[in-house]
Amino acid sequence: MKNRIQHAWPHVTRSESLVFERNSPGKSGAELPPLDVPPVSAQEILGDEFYRPDLDGFPEVSELEVIRHFTRLSTWNYGIDTGLYPLGSCTMKYNPRVNEAVARLEGLATDHPYTPEPLAQGCLKVLWETARCLEEITGMDAVSLQPAAGAQGELTGLLMMRACLEDRGARRKYVLVPDSAHGTNPASATIAGYESRNIKSNAMGCVDLAELRHAMTEEVAGLMLTNPNTLGIFEAEIRQVCEIVHAKGGLVYMDGANMNALVGVARPGTFGVDVMHLNLHKTFSTPHGGGGPGSGPVAVKKILEPYLPAPVVESSPDGALRLNYERPKSIGRVRAFYGNFGMAVRALAYMLAYGPHGLRQVTEDAVLNANYIRTRLKDVFDLPYDLPCMHECVFSDRRQAAKGVRTGDIAKRLIDYGFHPYTVSFPLIVPGAMMIEPTESAGKAELDAFIDALRSIAQEIEEDPQFVLKAPHSTRVSRLDEAAAARKPVLRWRPPPH
Ligand SMILES: Cc1ncc(COP(=O)(O)O)c(C=O)c1O
Repeated sequence: MKNRIQHAWPHVTRSESLVFERNSPGKSGAELPPLDVPPVSAQEILGDEFYRPDLDGFPEVSELEVIRHFTRLSTWNYGIDTGLYPLGSCTMKYNPRVNEAVARLEGLATDHPYTPEPLAQGCLKVLWETARCLEEITGMDAVSLQPAAGAQGELTGLLMMRACLEDRGARRKYVLVPDSAHGTNPASATIAGYESRNIKSNAMGCVDLAELRHAMTEEVAGLMLTNPNTLGIFEAEIRQVCEIVHAKGGLVYMDGANMNALVGVARPGTFGVDVMHLNLHKTFSTPHGGGGPGSGPVAVKKILEPYLPAPVVESSPDGALRLNYERPKSIGRVRAFYGNFGMAVRALAYMLAYGPHGLRQVTEDAVLNANYIRTRLKDVFDLPYDLPCMHECVFSDRRQAAKGVRTGDIAKRLIDYGFHPYTVSFPLIVPGAMMIEPTESAGKAELDAFIDALRSIAQEIEEDPQFVLKAPHSTRVSRLDEAAAARKPVLRWRPPPH
């Protein structure tokens, strides 16, 4: 029986070809009425300059073939609707479906950005309320919803810092970035025209105050601090950190993309932070990943409010909302219109549905889940910063590396157990990092299954490291040449030469 199967073609569910490769001239999935105009070829429309004979035509396949092909492909996806998605630093949490239903309401989904203000009061109210909720949550004074992603929020915040310092007559050169910051922080500082200077963390994984005092001079515009940082650790000395920066005339930028650990519990506005961003696509339950739209609102203290991107939604004395473009100190637009409006709708639906108590519960559950994983795995995996964590915990592969098995190998073996891998080799300050963020979405049974899987892999490494090094064993394709895929990506199909 075994031999016979080996000699047969594997079923198509195991060896899916591209729909182009199924092309069978003459097959059709639809019956169209006869043409009542003369046919025109692609070559005639495009002209010789653009026409590519090798790409002419669509695959000719039957309706059933198309349905089965795409339905099969859809079952290959692993998503948050399938199971735990513990990618550290990504907050891959469940997005309640009701947010989608609200975002699809006709008046919200189809209103045009140029709708006259008197007719767009509902949409303006969504922007207004979302900004007020985010101010309340962050303890900041004003919010712009314009930035389309976390990194764009960083750039927006830094440009506002720059404008404010220049107004004070201070032309500064550097931005300090701790080594535990998210990778986008130094990149944003560079794009904003600053040179980023790295400062080392202390043994607790936090900003070293002595290092900061030394580095914080009058040439420094400010500090960009990810809090909780990428080790999942809260910067407990944040007040002193802000005081040191302010004492030299600098400003504090907080990367608030990890607010999933703080919402309803701590407000950065009370720490001394001057400007921060939030990732609605992480913390506020809007879709994350797949290249879809994100949203990285920026929240500022009063001193930076004049520099917010224009337009700003304002309330008139008669209660009507309007868009104010007349903001002479504004850094200008960073995004067309008012940001990714649909993300604001989803985030507002989420915040209003959960309310203050629900949002706090989310935070507490996210932190509890991460600490549960941390404490239940620390006897088998090295925990370089052995402290209570916030919403994510970071192990290293140090013990398993002695057997030649690295973080990426463990992650690949995790796929055989049915889980999406954790984040591999990030943050960089932990060699061989295994960064796990369960979020509040996982229940205890799922966390236990995940923990059991990682404990079992640790045991396998003890007994048979070679087996783990060849994982995954259960997938359609096993080890891919990742270096070749990164260096020479082949992103489109071309017909094989005849
Ligand atoms: C801490 C932190 N900062 C910044 C970012 C950048 O956000 P985005 O990918 O939306 O640009 C992320 C993204 O996950 C993040 O985790």
